[in-house]
Amino acid sequence: MLNEWVKSPTLIEHSLAVEAVMRRYALEYHQDPLKWGITGLVHDFDYERYPEPGPGGHPFAGSLVLESLAWPAEMREAILAHEAYTRVPRASLLAKVLFVVDELTGLVRVLAHMHRGRGGLGAVTVEEVLERIGDPRFFRALSRENLEIGLEALQMEPERHVAICLGALKAAWRRARRPGAPEAGRL
Ligand SMILES: [Fe+2]
Ligand SMILES: [Fe+2]
Repeated sequence: MLNEWVKSPTLIEHSLAVEAVMRRYALEYHQDPLKWGITGLVHDFDYERYPEPGPGGHPFAGSLVLESLAWPAEMREAILAHEAYTRVPRASLLAKVLFVVDELTGLVRVLAHMHRGRGGLGAVTVEEVLERIGDPRFFRALSRENLEIGLEALQMEPERHVAICLGALKAAWRRARRPGAPEAGRL
């Protein structure tokens, strides 16, 4: 489904990154890694076709598609709630985690690109990510406010969140770089 709906390599990369971190978080919270991973993988699948933020746009349009395919309500609600403008409450743990994961992966990606040729993602440290979060001029697409609200709802320290995200992304990156890996070159 993702390949059918998403053509942008950047969005595929983002989807895979969010999937990897969601899988890791599922283990953290003793949840189903498959369900959490797939929710992360598809959370933006309708974005290219329906990029408008509002009714009829992302992620409402995608949610209707998932509903027609009888996807579980918990996954659809988490996907609806990952964009703050939908005002869908982040009721489940899945929704709460997806929200903070989606917020952070973009910033990590930018840092990995900045380290290109000098270790890439492997060279990004927890300290550096925290420092960049603290600098509102860096990667303005990251809503520091949403991240703070989301982490508060989870009662999670930013340091721990960054460590989990970075650890999951680095592990996925190493797997993807193995010769013959299906997603080689991604992340
Ligand atoms: Fe989104
Ligand atoms: Fe996203």
